[in-house]
Amino acid sequence: MQVLPCIRLARPTEAGAIAALSRDCIETGLAWRWTPARVMRSMRDPATNVAVANEFGAVLGFSIMHFDDASAHLLLLAVMPHLRERGLGRHLVEWQEDCARIAGSELIRAEARADNAVALAFYAELGWQVTARVSGYYEGRIDALRMEKRLSA
Ligand SMILES: CC(C)(COP(=O)(O)OP(=O)(O)OC[C@H]1O[C@@H](n2cnc3c(N)ncnc32)[C@H](O)[C@@H]1OP(=O)(O)O)[C@@H](O)C(=O)NCCC(=O)NCCS
Repeated sequence: MQVLPCIRLARPTEAGAIAALSRDCIETGLAWRWTPARVMRSMRDPATNVAVANEFGAVLGFSIMHFDDASAHLLLLAVMPHLRERGLGRHLVEWQEDCARIAGSELIRAEARADNAVALAFYAELGWQVTARVSGYYEGRIDALRMEKRLSA
């Protein structure tokens, strides 16, 4: 049986590693917007959860979820390349889904690059539905697929 690392809220010392993972694995070919300073701002925001899977001091993956009144928005998600396809991404999203249920959210939302076939397969497997295609969502040149998932109580 595979043992997955614990998920917990990120610490300020992890902002740099999270931002670097975003730059290298999510914002590929785009300007780097999720800098360490922005990740730190999210950590300080009481309406945002920055979660990490950390083992022996290393950030293996992270997810960032912002909570509104009745819904929550998964802003970012990534797993270190050499640790993918072992259930860690699912674990990071399910942790945020549990928080959203506890917070009373009925709906969670996210966007993914329309050219990111792996992410789209991942979200479909986790029960997310595509609701729209947004032309030029990323820097006016890369489309996004808007997705959502209704949470059961
Ligand atoms: C998307 C991402 C987070 C998935 O993380 P992961 O740890 O590899 O995913 P999991 O192992 O939990 O996979 C869960 C399910 O997703 C699907 N999936 C995952 N990787 C896949 C792949 N390469 N191809 C097809 N389906 C895939 C599978 O159905 C899998 O279920 P299974 O384990 O029963 O086969 C990871 O690929 C990643 O970090 N990508 C780069 C960043 C990114 O694209 N982020 C998302 C948009 S912000």
